[in-house]
Amino acid sequence: MRKETALPALAVSLSAIASPVRHSTSASAPIPAFVLQNAPLSHLWSQEQWWPSDVAEHVTHMVPELDFKAVAPGVTLQNVSSLGSDVYLTSKYDVTTQPAWITNVAGKPDASGKSAAPGTIVLVEKDGGVLDAFFFYFYSFDHGGKVLDIEFGDHVGDWEHSMVRFVNGTPTAVYLSAHSGGSAFDFSAMQKTNGRPTTYIAGGTHANYATAGQHCHDLPLDLLCDQTDAGPVWDMTLNFRGFWFDNTTQTFSTASGAVGAGAQEEAAEGAGWLSFAGMWGDEQYPVLEHGQYCIPLGDTDECLFSSGPTGECLKSLDCEACAYGFMRG
Ligand SMILES: *[C@@H]1O[C@H](CO)[C@@H](O)[C@H](O)[C@H]1NC(C)=O
Ligand SMILES: *[C@@H]1O[C@H](CO)[C@@H](O)[C@H](O)[C@H]1NC(C)=O
Repeated sequence: MRKETALPALAVSLSAIASPVRHSTSASAPIPAFVLQNAPLSHLWSQEQWWPSDVAEHVTHMVPELDFKAVAPGVTLQNVSSLGSDVYLTSKYDVTTQPAWITNVAGKPDASGKSAAPGTIVLVEKDGGVLDAFFFYFYSFDHGGKVLDIEFGDHVGDWEHSMVRFVNGTPTAVYLSAHSGGSAFDFSAMQKTNGRPTTYIAGGTHANYATAGQHCHDLPLDLLCDQTDAGPVWDMTLNFRGFWFDNTTQTFSTASGAVGAGAQEEAAEGAGWLSFAGMWGDEQYPVLEHGQYCIPLGDTDECLFSSGPTGECLKSLDCEACAYGFMRG
C-alpha cells in the first residue's frame, strides 16, 4: 500500500557532524571491505511468493508508456534514463496471470543466501568521515496485502532499501525502509548474524524490519499487517551491482568490486539507469481493467492495483531526502 503516512520519529540522530574532512571518490573506486562485512543479512518470508528480481530482466518485460500509450517499443537499462519522469514502464502482459517473471522463483536465494537476482549497492560519501551504504532490493511485483480479506495495493515493480551508516569505517546506524516511511536503529541495537545486522523482509510487500513477526501499518485496529519470519536468507553481497553517488555532481558511477552476475551485467549497462526518474511498473489501472477495484478506506480510495514506484534516484534523493536527508545530507 502506498499511502502517505507520518514518518516515524528516528530512534537515533543520523545527522553528520560537520567537518572539512572528505575523501573524494573517483569513479570506479572499489567498494570498501567494511561495507560488505557489515551488510545486512535479510530473511525473506518463509511463504514468500514474489521473489527478488534482476532489474535488467524486469525491463525486458516492459514497454514505456505515457497515458497508457507506448512511447517506445521497449527499453533497456542502457537507454531507460532517456525517458521522462512521467513515463511508466508497463508490463507487456496481463500481470493478473502472474507470469513467471512476476513470481520469479528463480530469484529465491539458495542455501548459501545467494539470489540469482543481483542486488544494488549505492555508496554516498558525506562530510565528517560518513559513508552511507544503501542496499537496494528489487522485486518485479509487490503484493500489497489484505484488509478484511479484500486485497489492496498490488503493483508492478518494487524498490526497497536498507542503509548502513559508517563513520570512519565503523558502522553506527541502520535504516530500514517500510512502506512510505521506515525506521532507524543504532547499529549496536540490531540483531546480528556473524556480526552482520539481521533484517526481516515482509511477504509480498517486501517492507524491511528489524524483528521477526507481525508488523501492522497504515490502518488502525491492526487491519493491515505484514508478516515476517526467519525464512530464506538473502545475502546481497554474493551477487550485486555496485555504484557511487557523487552528491556534488548528482551523478552515479560504477564501483569496482561488484560480485557475481551483477558485476558482469553492470559493466555493459553503466550507471545511467539509476537516474531514471519515471516509474518502474504499470500506472494504476482504471476500474475494471485487469480486475481493478477501488474502495474508500480511511480517508482515501484504496485500489487492488496502485501505480509502480519511482526508482532509487527519485525516491531517496527527493522524497526521503526531504525527511531524512539521507543521500544528500
Ligand atoms: C532502447 O534500446 C532498445 C534496443 O536497441 C530499443 O528497442 C528500444 O526502443 C530503446 N528504447 C528507448 C526508450 O530508447
Ligand atoms: C548535497 O548537495 C545538496 C545540494 O546539491 C546540498 O544541499 C547538501 O548539503 C549536500 N550534502 C552533502 C552531504 O554534501
